[in-house]
Amino acid sequence: MITAINISHRYQNDLVLQNITLHIFKGEFVVFTGESGSGKSTLLSILSTLLTPSEGSLLFFGEKIEAIADIDLFRRENIGFIFQFHYLIEYLTVKENLKIANEKVTDTSINALTQRLGIVELLDKYPNEISGGQRQRVAIARALINKPKVIFADEPTGNLDSQNSLIVFELFQELAQEGTTIIATTHNKKLAKFADTQYEVRDGQL
Ligand SMILES: Nc1ncnc2c1ncn2[C@@H]1O[C@H](COP(=O)(O)OP(=O)(O)OP(=O)(O)O)[C@@H](O)[C@H]1O
Ligand SMILES: [Mg+2]
Repeated sequence: MITAINISHRYQNDLVLQNITLHIFKGEFVVFTGESGSGKSTLLSILSTLLTPSEGSLLFFGEKIEAIADIDLFRRENIGFIFQFHYLIEYLTVKENLKIANEKVTDTSINALTQRLGIVELLDKYPNEISGGQRQRVAIARALINKPKVIFADEPTGNLDSQNSLIVFELFQELAQEGTTIIATTHNKKLAKFADTQYEVRDGQL
């Protein structure tokens, strides 16, 4: 589904990723671990098409991403993003924040998904009325609401306690079993065990 060939990346003259080659299959749950500054977020930005690598190629469904005519449309149709710093719209309720990501979503699906993430009772609240960890779970729900083929999650449990982190990684595992490809980073070795494949990023190498 996603192939990276010989990817290297420099910020100015600083080489932060070196000759990364990997293949990610449909329905695979992949986790990148590694020390702070090792290059995990940079690699995730490149694999998710948001950052163009200094060298190497990235293929989605066997096609080079430069060849995709409308990359914004491609992202909207295929990719869900979960970042460490998430932005909810403050003047919309939790439910409205979810609906804005997918106007066609039914109340039944919203209820099922938010139930799974333990935030169903927050649907009518505003973002400033809920905790940081709850906001993060709303951001996760928003990324999942479109049922994307691939989900990229950079430290998705960074603000969550261990029980809620577990809920998120168990959900990722289930989604992967249902065919969604999940690509995440984490510092947490216990959570990394939920993945089908773990890569350690060390000094910009796998
Ligand atoms: N926009 C940028 N411009 C210049 N250097 C950057 C930029 N983003 C990251 N770096 C540098 O690239 C290296 C890799 O950073 P990256 O954010 O990919 O690491 P990380 O593994 O995600 O770290 P963390 O676990 O702290 O999130 C670091 O040395 C960092 O300082
Ligand atoms: Mg990072």
